[in-house]
Amino acid sequence: MDETTTILVKWTGLHDANNAGHIHGGTVMKLCDEAAGLAAMRHARTPAVTAAMDRMAFLHPVRLGEVLTFKARVNAAWHTSMEVGVRVEAENPLTGDLRHTSSAYFTMVAIDERGDPTPVPPCVVETDEERRREREAQLRRANRLGEREQIMDARQQ
Ligand SMILES: CC(C)(COP(=O)(O)OP(=O)(O)OC[C@H]1O[C@@H](n2cnc3c(N)ncnc32)[C@H](O)[C@@H]1OP(=O)(O)O)[C@@H](O)C(=O)NCCC(=O)NCCS
Repeated sequence: MDETTTILVKWTGLHDANNAGHIHGGTVMKLCDEAAGLAAMRHARTPAVTAAMDRMAFLHPVRLGEVLTFKARVNAAWHTSMEVGVRVEAENPLTGDLRHTSSAYFTMVAIDERGDPTPVPPCVVETDEERRREREAQLRRANRLGEREQIMDARQQ
């Protein structure tokens, strides 16, 4: 699954920041989505759309001028969907200080030329770390789909 690893590096500038000199959460989320989409496409070798993103926590503020690194990789693949994990780190390029600022999980769905979901290849997991990631992704998928089902049921009552 290493082959799906995608790294985006963004040197933050004025247009990414609010008046307090902190980087907008939306800027971070957009770049997470881009990194996740690319990792998914590297696995599926088809276009992929974002079906869902799990809740995202911002652990530390990112300051103007810091360098953001987005590291994404596919954790698990099912029939047409994949889970992609993204880790965000912020670096002060003057001091080398590095902080883990966010993590998120995306569900990406491979689509065909009509925009319909299309099957993806299975994941080839080789290491204990990859097996752990896949196992935990299965748990998150069960929670996501369970929640969706409960909401649909509640709407029909
Ligand atoms: C994502 C999308 C293609 C799914 O289409 P759909 O007709 O609902 O397809 P299905 O119900 O057959 O689901 C397809 C897969 O997505 C998964 N999925 C769909 N919605 C999901 C959600 N909210 N959370 C988690 N997984 C989801 C399903 O579990 C299924 O996975 P599997 O095939 O691996 O079992 C469709 O909803 C869509 O186009 N959404 C808009 C995407 C978009 O514009 N994103 C932002 C820009 S990229």
